[in-house]
Amino acid sequence: MCGIVGYVGGQSALDVVVAGLKRLEYRGYDSAGVAVLADGGLAAAKKAGKLVNLEKELVGRPLPAGATGIGHTRWATHGGPTDTNAHPHLDNAGRVAVVHNGIIENFAELRAELAERGHELVSETDTEVVAHLLAESFSSCGDLAESMRLVCRRLDGAFTLVAVHADEPDVVVGARRNSPLVVGLGEGEAFLASDVAAFIAYTRSAIELGQDQVVELRRDAEGGGAAGVSVAVTDFHGAPGEARSYHIDWDSSAAEKGGYDYFMLKEIAEQPKAVADTLLGRIDPAGSLTLDEVRIPDSVLREIDKIVVIACGTAFHAGMIAKLAIEHWTRIPCETELASEFRYRDPILDARTLVIAISQSGETMDTLMALRHAREQGAKVLAVCNTNGSTIPRESDAVLYTHAGPEVAVASTKAFLTQLIACYLVALYLAQVRGSKWGDEVRDVVRELSAVADRVERVLETMEPVRELARSLADKNTVLFLGRHVGYPVALEGALKLKELAYMHAEGFAAGELKHGPIALIEKDLPVVVVVPSPRGRSVLHDKIVSNIQEIRARGARTIVIAEEGDEAVVPYADHLIRIPATPTLLQPLVSTVPLQVFACELATARGNEVDQPRNLAKSVTVE
Ligand code: G6P
Repeated sequence: MCGIVGYVGGQSALDVVVAGLKRLEYRGYDSAGVAVLADGGLAAAKKAGKLVNLEKELVGRPLPAGATGIGHTRWATHGGPTDTNAHPHLDNAGRVAVVHNGIIENFAELRAELAERGHELVSETDTEVVAHLLAESFSSCGDLAESMRLVCRRLDGAFTLVAVHADEPDVVVGARRNSPLVVGLGEGEAFLASDVAAFIAYTRSAIELGQDQVVELRRDAEGGGAAGVSVAVTDFHGAPGEARSYHIDWDSSAAEKGGYDYFMLKEIAEQPKAVADTLLGRIDPAGSLTLDEVRIPDSVLREIDKIVVIACGTAFHAGMIAKLAIEHWTRIPCETELASEFRYRDPILDARTLVIAISQSGETMDTLMALRHAREQGAKVLAVCNTNGSTIPRESDAVLYTHAGPEVAVASTKAFLTQLIACYLVALYLAQVRGSKWGDEVRDVVRELSAVADRVERVLETMEPVRELARSLADKNTVLFLGRHVGYPVALEGALKLKELAYMHAEGFAAGELKHGPIALIEKDLPVVVVVPSPRGRSVLHDKIVSNIQEIRARGARTIVIAEEGDEAVVPYADHLIRIPATPTLLQPLVSTVPLQVFACELATARGNEVDQPRNLAKSVTVE
């Protein structure tokens, strides 16, 4: 939510910053802006709308060349997406520029205070106060990093801030509380960004900033860190801070479209590899599991008497499926809850509760706040996360990383499949440690998981009819999705994808619940997607859903049936039949979700929508 870039080095800061913002646009795209230090002054440009609007503005009104700069791409919280509310925000003298990700909760009182001292604030944002406070502090101490520390001590809420001052043309300063900020170290240059994707084209060497730290990047031939640029990290009071350096293990091509029209298409296609990579190294030659990043001792895991899965959006749907696998394989009671609701209902947690926090980005504020609450109550937290070094795994007792690689499209696809794999692994690991499944039973499931990548590949190879069907439904207003058991979260996920991408009324229902109300929605020709469980697993489950298909068809629905190869019972009732490879009941979402992703992507394209950047959304939601 909001992307931030800062640069100091030998290249054109504007070029580096704009290129970085392009990589971060997934975080927000309702306005963008840049500021560069040049010729003893500060020059800024900002524009409502996508980054392309800013780029056009910069062609018409170029900024002077400079080697220090900052930039921002916004997802509006305080104040609408206008030119004035776009970042950077400047002080009245135009000497300080600041960009921000997060929410400053006490901005109203700070604003009133500044107004009393004669400052004129022009935007409706919470951010602008920071520019003015920095300018005031700088006028007394003459040091931007020190000014940042002083100002941060006055702020409440979540904030990543990056600032420059015209009087310190070789310095960029950043600060972080709750929202992400990473440093990139190049040769004679250094970067600050919300995500390494912004600077991966220049360096794969990064430093992860901790909570409540301020960082100063200073171009200085004698400095440490990158040659010619020193990097100094402190806490908000000036005490030297520790920061972990790491190597980014993917290259810039992973964050590019690679010949696909959209990132989403590329990410759907990458799913077989993402699934295989997430299993890699976690199964020993004898077929049992080793999860080295789980730092919770087995003795503690044996004592767990309750599991709570917390997540948002697509990750929440993965959590709903995780619950069914966990309970079935471990016999530990498990509940799945929306992270945004969790801490407000006074959940019952203690040292024997395991909380599993699922998050692709590792930065979702609702999930972060929920896990903090869980830890305060003494529960152990295991993160399932796709982003190395992000806040959620750092604040958890243990982490199991999904190896999906960078996911750029706002609508989650490959991250979802890998979250499922990780959850199955956690469930099996618990079953193995607690002895609720025999070794050979664990190995049977592991064998099935290892076969999933090929099955997903097969689904992807047969998607043309699904695309055709999606195009033929482009003028519909409503699509319903039905499923039972693990098929229910899949139905919810199918509906979510369609809402996010096609802006259609799409709803997922538990198929059995239909007769208790939603069946009133069925009318002639209404498309209804039904996710049918394997007939080989639980025949009762299968038979019930076949009856549900007949019930809706009898009322005029146009049935789109997703069913396993060889399931002949559904054929007479399917207006459209989408086949998926036979997969054990609990693992079926790994294959049944894929056609729904393709369906939503194609339907959105047919309606002329922007697939990678749907309206009003952002990929990483760092506000509650
Ligand atoms: C946002 C995204 C969703 C995502 C959700 C949770 O709403 O648009 O695609 O599922 O956040 O994100 P996380 O990074 O925690 O998995």
